[in-house]
Amino acid sequence: MKTAALTFLALGLIIAGAIWWSHAATLPGPVVAAETELVKTQTCAECHPGVVEDFATAPHARTLHRVAGSEWLDRFAGRSVELEGRRFRFESIGDELWFAADDVPFAIEVDWIFGSGQHALTPVSIDPDLDGRPNLTQLHVSWFRDGSIGRTPGSDRIADGPPTLGLHHDAAETERCFGCHASWLPQPEGRMELEHAVINLDCSRCHPGAARHAASDGELALGVDWDQLSPLESINRCGECHRRVDEFTPDELTPAHTHLVRFAPVGLALSPCFKVANDPEQGEGFPRFDCLSCHDPHLPTRTAPEYFNAQCRQCHGDVSPAAILDRVASDSAAAHARPLASQRAAPCSAEPLDSSCIECHMPKSQIVPGLSFTDHWIRVRE
Ligand code: HEC
Ligand code: HEC
Ligand code: HEC
Ligand code: HEC
Ligand code: HEC
Ligand code: HEC
Ligand code: HEC
Repeated sequence: MKTAALTFLALGLIIAGAIWWSHAATLPGPVVAAETELVKTQTCAECHPGVVEDFATAPHARTLHRVAGSEWLDRFAGRSVELEGRRFRFESIGDELWFAADDVPFAIEVDWIFGSGQHALTPVSIDPDLDGRPNLTQLHVSWFRDGSIGRTPGSDRIADGPPTLGLHHDAAETERCFGCHASWLPQPEGRMELEHAVINLDCSRCHPGAARHAASDGELALGVDWDQLSPLESINRCGECHRRVDEFTPDELTPAHTHLVRFAPVGLALSPCFKVANDPEQGEGFPRFDCLSCHDPHLPTRTAPEYFNAQCRQCHGDVSPAAILDRVASDSAAAHARPLASQRAAPCSAEPLDSSCIECHMPKSQIVPGLSFTDHWIRVRE
């Protein structure tokens, strides 16, 4: 980050920091996977060309962007927005992006953009703390899928207190942001070197042991065989970043806590479908049910409701969904197809089998204008 008025900046960051701390106390602690190792995606392409090609289209392959040369600059440059009577604006200077507010006497340079653009993009600025460790300022203004720019989730009540440009995150918290959005963070002498970070999720982030597997021509097994994990272990692995149910106290696990909608593994773990169908005794005859029943982490998220409804109907209906599942849409969808249910759970007591199950039982819920999440807590609602 560069600025002409460092003293003002330091003051701004201290104040923003105070605001962030009060906010941080309400967030669950994120987990950074321990077994990460550096193996380039290209190493896998030789033997798994289809998966590597698929993966290039996945949001997981685009979780983070360096601003210089970013394809997203146009989404911010020259735009301004008013929030709570405060006006914020983005300006581009060459391939740099700067952020300012009318009531703050300096501008800050945007260094990174978080998010794939599938839902939102949040610009951030990095500068060193007194120990030289990177600290992140998450700007108050983000870009949303509908093309608007507006309030970043977490930037509540930005008119209270002295004016700031964003929420400050200390070195440990900054490391966590990058820990979930990047794959390799070199830390010589305990200091994260962002310039050498391997950004986005690469293959080894979810397939530990990939290095020796690749070096042995696929002979040596990977550190994690996803198919051997129990359904709960499997969703908890996704939950290292998407959050796990055991990060919350029982008091927090109620429908009144609307922020849970953001954490898919939490909702799914609470769903009777997940609990009963995966139970060794009660679940006899049901297919395994976890994230991979509905998502392929190597591909963009499916959006056709029919696909998801077919998943519900194979357990809750008497229709074989094979005809409408996109089993043959890609090699990897075919590889992930699971056996069909030979047992049936109760049908819907309110609507017919051809209704759109997810509309009522997995509704979308808006977090801030322009940003919605899908409630993965499948249940009968009030
Ligand atoms: C030289 C060839 C080769 C390279 C390079 C290679 N693999 Fe494999 N991989 C294989 C073979 C062969 C299998 C099938 C092994 C089997 O069925 O037992 C396999 C299977 C897999 C599986 C499925 C494992 C399972 O238990 O079903 C995954 C996941 C995988 N590879 C990931 C990777 C990743 C990630 C990379 C890059 C870091 C990679 N592979 C590089 C040859 C390779
Ligand atoms: C290392 C962290 C990490 C792990 C592990 C991880 N994810 Fe993600 N995932 C992310 C991030 C970051 C995004 C946000 C990308 C974006 O901005 O759209 C994301 C996005 C997604 C999306 C939404 C994509 C879209 O269209 O918006 C799905 C679905 C998803 N992940 C499923 C999974 C599943 C299933 C697993 C486990 C097999 C998993 N993820 C494991 C970090 C992770
Ligand atoms: C525990 C892991 C984790 C940490 C820590 C984390 N993220 Fe994410 N982030 C995710 C996952 C998973 C998604 C996709 C699902 C979602 O949006 O919640 C995501 C999505 C996003 C998105 C896309 C828009 C959206 O909301 O879907 C942005 C922007 C983002 N994160 C920014 C940040 C910033 C900035 C930080 C640090 C202040 C941060 N994240 C810390 C895991 C994490
Ligand atoms: C977000 C986590 C995640 C990332 C990143 C990821 N994978 Fe996977 N991969 C999985 C999961 C989970 C499965 C098991 C899918 C199943 O059993 O349905 C899997 C299965 C596989 C398989 C075996 C089944 C198949 O589709 O052929 C291969 C091979 C594979 N991955 C290779 C790769 C390669 C190569 C990359 C990088 C380009 C990669 N994966 C990135 C989570 C991930
Ligand atoms: C029964 C099917 C189903 C299962 C199982 C499932 N999802 Fe989803 N997921 C959906 C649907 C439906 C959407 C919304 C797709 C759309 O229209 O964009 C979605 C969207 C998402 C998104 C994008 C953000 C959002 O909330 O809309 C993420 C991230 C995600 N799922 C993660 C996960 C993870 C992680 C798991 C495992 C814990 C999981 N999902 C299990 C059906 C499922
Ligand atoms: C792998 C099988 C399976 C899948 C897939 C599945 N369910 Fe279920 N579902 C069950 C089982 C088993 C129960 C528990 C029934 C019981 O207790 O008798 C259940 C319970 C329910 C309930 C009652 C919950 C409550 O609050 O009591 C609803 C509603 C429901 N499922 C809807 C859905 C919808 C909608 C989908 C698709 C998004 C879906 N299910 C996918 C197996 C499944
Ligand atoms: C228009 C909204 C709506 C749609 C669409 C819908 N449901 Fe329901 N569903 C409900 C309501 C409301 C109830 C609770 C009815 C009651 O109080 O008996 C319910 C109850 C259920 C139950 C609990 C049944 C029991 O005996 O306890 C299951 C299982 C279920 N739905 C599954 C599904 C599936 C599968 C689909 C798609 C084929 C579906 N629902 C479509 C609104 C809907």
